[in-house]
Amino acid sequence: MYKILKKEEIGNNVYSMEIYAPEIAKNAKAGQFIIFRIEDKGERVPLTVAGIDVDKGSVRIIFQVVGKSTLQLSLLAQGDVIKDFVGPLGHPTEIKKYGVFVAVAGGVGAAEVLPVVKELKKVGNKIVTIIGARSKDLIILEEELKEVSDELLFATNDGTYGLKGFVTDVLKNVIVKEKVDVVYAIGPIPMMKAVSDLTKGKSIKTIVSLNPIMLDGTGMCGACRVTVDNKTRFACVDGPEFDGHSIAWKELSLRLGLYKNLEKVSLDIFSYNMECKCHTK
Ligand SMILES: Cc1cc2nc3c(=O)[nH]c(=O)nc-3n(C[C@H](O)[C@H](O)[C@H](O)COP(=O)(O)OP(=O)(O)OC[C@H]3O[C@@H](n4cnc5c(N)ncnc54)[C@H](O)[C@@H]3O)c2cc1C
Ligand code: FES
Repeated sequence: MYKILKKEEIGNNVYSMEIYAPEIAKNAKAGQFIIFRIEDKGERVPLTVAGIDVDKGSVRIIFQVVGKSTLQLSLLAQGDVIKDFVGPLGHPTEIKKYGVFVAVAGGVGAAEVLPVVKELKKVGNKIVTIIGARSKDLIILEEELKEVSDELLFATNDGTYGLKGFVTDVLKNVIVKEKVDVVYAIGPIPMMKAVSDLTKGKSIKTIVSLNPIMLDGTGMCGACRVTVDNKTRFACVDGPEFDGHSIAWKELSLRLGLYKNLEKVSLDIFSYNMECKCHTK
C-alpha cells in the first residue's frame, strides 16, 4: 500500500500528489514514469515522475482528471493509500550538454517536462521552455518552470497569456532568433506532430515523449506499440522518448482513441455510483 503524503489542486482539474514510495524515489530519473492502480480491480494508469524527494522517500505525480481512474485518484485525500505504485519504468532522458535545448509542452505536459529541464539546466544547457494552453487559467507550474528555464514563453489559443496561437508559432520565432540544438516535445499528439513537422524541415533533432495506452508497462502486452522508423517499438520499455521525425503519428492517434466508448461507459458508471452513494448518505 502506498500512502498519499500530500495532495494539492494546482490548476483547473489538475492535481499534484506526493506518494510515499522510497524504493522508487531512490532509483527514478527524469523522463521515467510509474504505473498506479488504486484498488484490486482498478485500471493500471501510467503517470510521469514529476519530482523526487529521496529524504522523504516520496515521488511526486501531477495529473489531469480526464476519465474514471484519474477522477477516482483525485477524490482521495492526504493520508489515504493506493494499492499499487510500480516503477520507475521506461528509459530516463539522456542528461548531457546539448547547447540550446527548447522544451515544448502542451497542457499537463508542463508537469512532464519539469523534471527533464531541471536536470538539463544543471549540466549547463540553455533552456527555453514553451508552454501552450487553451487559456491562461489552464497554465500550471509557471513559477517552478521559471526557476529552471533561461526563457519561459507562452502561447494560448485565446490570447489571454503570451502569444495568441500555438506553441509552434512561438517555436518558429525562437528558431529564427537563435541556433537551436534540440527540441523536446511532450503533450497531445497533434501538438507533438506539429512540432516534429516544423523541426524536420529545419533539420533540428527532436525528441518526443509518447503517451500511448499502456497496460503492464513491461513490454509483455503490446498495448503501447508504436511504429518508429517502420519498426514496431514498445513505448513502455523502448521509450517513452523517441525521435519525433520517425513516428507513424496517424496510427498512434488512432490507437489512443480505440477505447473511447468503453472509457466513457466506465466514467459514467463510476460517476453514477458516486452520486448514489451521496444520496444515500
Ligand atoms: C508514459 C506516460 C506518462 C503519462 N504521464 C502523465 C502525467 O504525468 N500526467 C497526466 O495527467 N497524464 C499522463 N499520462 C496520461 C494518463 O495515463 C491518462 O490520462 C490516464 O491513463 C487516463 O486514465 P482515466 O481512467 O482517467 O481516463 P480514461 O477514460 O481511461 O481515458 C481518457 C484518455 O486517456 C488516455 N488513456 C486511457 N488509458 C490510458 C492508459 N492506460 N495509458 C495511457 N493513456 C491512457 C486515452 O487517450 C483516453 O482516451 C501519461 C501517459 C503515459 C503513457
Ligand atoms: S504497456 Fe504492455 S507492452 Fe508496453
